[in-house]
Amino acid sequence: MKPSLALIPDFDLSARNTLALRATSRLGMLITEPAMVPQLIAMATAEGAALRILGGGSNVVLAPHFDGITAIMAITGRRIVESTDQSTLIEIAAGEDWHQMVTWTVEQGLGGVENLAGIPGTVGAAPVQNIGAYGVEVADVLETLVAYDRRDGVERVFARAECAFAYRDSLFKREAGRFVVLSLRLRLPKPWTPNLGFAGLSDLGDSSEITPRTVMDRVLALRGSKLPDWRVTPNAGSFFQNPILPASEAQPVLNEFPTAPAFPQPDGRLKLSAGWLIEKSGLKGFQLGPAGISDRHALVVINRGGATADDVAALAEHVKQTVRQRFGVQLHEEPVFL
Ligand code: EPU
Repeated sequence: MKPSLALIPDFDLSARNTLALRATSRLGMLITEPAMVPQLIAMATAEGAALRILGGGSNVVLAPHFDGITAIMAITGRRIVESTDQSTLIEIAAGEDWHQMVTWTVEQGLGGVENLAGIPGTVGAAPVQNIGAYGVEVADVLETLVAYDRRDGVERVFARAECAFAYRDSLFKREAGRFVVLSLRLRLPKPWTPNLGFAGLSDLGDSSEITPRTVMDRVLALRGSKLPDWRVTPNAGSFFQNPILPASEAQPVLNEFPTAPAFPQPDGRLKLSAGWLIEKSGLKGFQLGPAGISDRHALVVINRGGATADDVAALAEHVKQTVRQRFGVQLHEEPVFL
């Protein structure tokens, strides 16, 4: 039997985006099984309706109204596919909560994604912007991914090399709207070795006593001490990407501030810290109407109450212009405006 597509009119998205922007969609629904995806696309095409898919709404700036169908990815399921002496292969459906999935692995003593604990959003969204934190990216552990290709009307399996992963980037982000991620397979290594290269993790102690749990707990403590919780202060995480610049373009910043955070990349370029640049531009805690820059972390844009996408865009523009004038560096937003 075909699953039914129950469309909800005037679908309210205000509680489905972590910036808590007030937003509605003419129609909305939950995708609870993969077979619904082609059906939904066929129906939207037949009716000439625009269709967009949302995960946890943690990396989006939603316009007040969308004149089309917003489908929430809500397919659940997670399992261990195989376990050998070398690794454990897990499969997780796109609608699972990312952090709950990380916790599930850690509870079984499996390491590999503990540095990515506490990241809001769904499993399906994780590879789109190649989420990363504390020295690990989802690309490091992803083995394959299943996605529905809206353009060609087929389900496809992508090997990691086909995903074109880069810093906060992937094929699925570059070809926005084309693919609907359905599930991921992650290969977790055995024996596990902790990834403690990042500042804040290196003092965890004797590595023989470290477990995925101790690393996860430290990561959660670090995040909690720096990043505002979106449930308390609505936000979309890092609002700007860290700029990766040719060394010559980064040099003026380093000439003026020799100790500015700067991370050499394999290709010889330098990654500067957008949070540092914004703070040094005097914008930490800055407010523009109901939108603002967090006074805890300068990379985080917050909704102070009642902000709209236009308020957020105006603030982002002000930040980019100020940093450009102060440092000659162009910042780019990380969330997607929908
Ligand atoms: N910094 C400041 N002022 C600030 C914030 C940061 O000077 O207000 C400086 C810090 O002192 C540090 C540097 O900037 O020297 C980097 O800061 P942090 O360690 O907080 O990391 P980040 O580069 O700002 C990135 C990711 C985060 C991820 C952390 C930890 C991006 C855009 N952001 O932030 O990811 O949690 O590293 O690995 O790459 C996200 O993408 O939503 C996100 C939260």
